Amino acid sequence: MSELLNIRAQFPAIDGDLVYLDSAATTQKPQAVIDCITQYYGNQNANVHRGSHSLTAVATERFEAARETVARFINAASSKEIIWTRGATEALNLIAQTYARNTLQPGDEILVSEMEHHANIVPWQIVAEQTGAKVVKIPITAGCHFDLEAFEALLSPKTKIVATTQVTNVTGTVLPLDKIGALTRTHTDAILVVDGAQGIVHLPTDVQALDADFYVFSGHKLYAPAGIGVLYGKLDLLEFMPPWHGGGKMVEKVSFEGTTFSQLPGKFEAGTPNVAGALALACAIDWLSSYDRQLMESHISDLQHLAFQGLSAIEDIRIIGYQPHASVITFVMDGVHHQDIATLLDQQNIAVRAGHHCAHPLMDALGVKGTVRASFAIYNTKEDVEKFLTALTKAVDML
Ligand code: ALA
Repeated sequence: MSELLNIRAQFPAIDGDLVYLDSAATTQKPQAVIDCITQYYGNQNANVHRGSHSLTAVATERFEAARETVARFINAASSKEIIWTRGATEALNLIAQTYARNTLQPGDEILVSEMEHHANIVPWQIVAEQTGAKVVKIPITAGCHFDLEAFEALLSPKTKIVATTQVTNVTGTVLPLDKIGALTRTHTDAILVVDGAQGIVHLPTDVQALDADFYVFSGHKLYAPAGIGVLYGKLDLLEFMPPWHGGGKMVEKVSFEGTTFSQLPGKFEAGTPNVAGALALACAIDWLSSYDRQLMESHISDLQHLAFQGLSAIEDIRIIGYQPHASVITFVMDGVHHQDIATLLDQQNIAVRAGHHCAHPLMDALGVKGTVRASFAIYNTKEDVEKFLTALTKAVDML
């Protein structure tokens, strides 16, 4: 634990009294990541893969080294399998509008779990509308777990895509991706798309072991800035897929007679990329990897458990779908709007998220309109949890 003691001081945004419990929405950034951005713009800013001067050569080298860092972090077989995107949402839309749009036939099915964030539902609905395919819901169990039995029953030759999260942003449920993958491969020739936006933050992720065809995540939940994310795809699939956005860098030769496209990964990276974001994501990964991640996670789940015990003791608070060893806890107070609780907490300097968490279908399945969610990260402390519980008790008394 001692190696984690100096961590909070590395996050300038929570230097004061703020108790930041909204890390599942976005994490605060360590000074190392902030310095990386400042250093890039202060010393090395140049466009990449285009110029003919030293600055651009250095920026290009660092940009590609960042891609290698990401590839190593998720154990991709090649850095060509790493495509920079604006975030997990853009990556999912890319898969939908390239792979899915070019392969789905009327009547084909895309199986999507009920626990998904809207980013892993709506792109599939859009491409289903375009192709005549159908989005089919995989239900959850009463305990808010992925229903493997129901899933197996839904699999058929019509199943072409299985899209699922690794960890839900609402309840912290970890999905059994090994079993989901095995069932998918046994019964279908469908591809497996995994939304790792929450999962990559808390679980060691090996895309080859997962055998996911596509895996996506965002930098901003992983202590890096917003506006940078990753699409991992198996090389043969990425090679087969047509480009999505057209523009500079994604082409080999443009003429009015016809255009040929770049090799991977450039084929999917039209326009000037977010170089600073890519570098900062690599910095965040290096920063995170310099710690014992298991120790980090046990600290986070200790805080979550402490919050669980405290919340359980507050009359009128109903915990929704609590999962042990997760980083989030989500709750309601019946008869009170979730935003009112968040506002009263905010007035006491406690930042939580209230709402539907971009997961309307899960809210419907849980029978609530919204919840209050507290999410814990490595910079949170036991004192944060105590302040949160004291503030919540006060809020409940006022309501
Ligand atoms: N998906 C983010 C969340 O869970 C924004 O809050």
